[in-house]
Amino acid sequence: MAKKVMIMDTILRDAHQSHAATRMRTEQMIPVLEQLDEVGYYSLEGWGGATFDSCMRFLNEDPWERLRTLRKYLKKTPIQMLLRGQNLLGYRNYADDLVEKVVEKSFENGIGVIRVFDALNDPRNIESSMKAITKYGKKYGGVCEAAISYTTSPVHTLEYFVQLAKTYESMGADNICIKDMANLLLPFDAYQLVTALKKELRPETKIHLHTHNTTGTGDMVNLMAIQAGVDIVDTALSPLANGTSQPATEPLVATLKGTEFDTGIDLGKLIPIAAHFKKVAAELENEGSLNPKVRQVDVNTLIYQVPGGMLSNLMNQLKKAGKEEKLAEVLAEVPNVRKDCGYPPLVTPSSQIVGTQAVMNVITGERYKMVTKETRDLFAGKYGQLPMPIDEQAAEKVLKGEKRITYRPADDLEPEYESLKSELIDKGFYTQEEDVLSYASFPEVAENFFKWRKAKNEGIDSDLVKTGVYPV
Ligand code: CO
Repeated sequence: MAKKVMIMDTILRDAHQSHAATRMRTEQMIPVLEQLDEVGYYSLEGWGGATFDSCMRFLNEDPWERLRTLRKYLKKTPIQMLLRGQNLLGYRNYADDLVEKVVEKSFENGIGVIRVFDALNDPRNIESSMKAITKYGKKYGGVCEAAISYTTSPVHTLEYFVQLAKTYESMGADNICIKDMANLLLPFDAYQLVTALKKELRPETKIHLHTHNTTGTGDMVNLMAIQAGVDIVDTALSPLANGTSQPATEPLVATLKGTEFDTGIDLGKLIPIAAHFKKVAAELENEGSLNPKVRQVDVNTLIYQVPGGMLSNLMNQLKKAGKEEKLAEVLAEVPNVRKDCGYPPLVTPSSQIVGTQAVMNVITGERYKMVTKETRDLFAGKYGQLPMPIDEQAAEKVLKGEKRITYRPADDLEPEYESLKSELIDKGFYTQEEDVLSYASFPEVAENFFKWRKAKNEGIDSDLVKTGVYPV
């Protein structure tokens, strides 16, 4: 039976987020958007993740304007975005009214598929987003894709992931994504996981795989998943592919051509688009946003069982403390800390929290003699529910009587949209409802951007405004 594989290309989001700190500008995308639209991708990832922050902080761009521009040129291909559950496009928990507004405005401005995830895989942390996605998805014809944060640990078994996927499906997910941001998923495990999900989920639920090529296994992971019946895989056009980014699109299209998995994509259409992004990659490298090292294979994750980014953080912290020789001890301590706090996935932010705590435990020579606020919050349930119960002895030392919460962390939050809106109107920066959402996500960054925008609209040299030379 023919089983066509679909592709989401990440060239407009994760590819440059992974390789070039999310610095690709809209004007570097526009020349090939119409060609991209003709390829026949399942979707083009172009928004969310770090693009929101980067647009305002570094590029003097309104992220909402970027989305509208993408929509203008991409008439057929759905634009996909990444949403961090209750953390939306930022890094804290937001109130439910903001969650609903962000989802509504994303669809209204042109998003077709929203991929939502929680770092801890706590369904309560994506419940509010999923409600909004299914509600407004109906109105705008959008797709709800719930993502599992993939990790390895004694509790993260095949059964665990299948159960989680079923929960997300019952909450209204059209697609289930396996989100392997650290490239920890190995090819044969991918085969097993996709096989199990295909068997246990509804036939109409699409399985979407997201991996990276950090450790060099990405292409094999994709190919094994495809043989197990995965519906959609993520790749990036070759100039910004591989290493910390996704495996490349062109080799996969060529590999599958003429097989039962044929993507139906014409390699010839990809060549001129890739040529364009080769120039863009060179521009990003010239301005210092892209370090060619990101293209290399880094096998450390395979050896130490911690994501590459986490390992370099650990080494930096030890270097600062002058204790570089303690790396082996810290790596041995990581699983202990992780067990104590109920086995969180090793992804941002829990990877940093667990890593920093392991370093402290080793340096002080005593477990939890020193703890960070983040460790305390993790133990207290403020990031959400952990996959397993926390270790009570450790909890006593970490929390020192501090109250634990067992309810959904965002239940504590009062509605915030209206008050933020009046604040913005008072400051004279309000031009559209979307501004409130930018402001809620990154208050300082957004305000600086609004000042720059206002000055530009009033014909003042707006670059001076950003440098603080011109008072506005
Ligand atoms: Co990614």
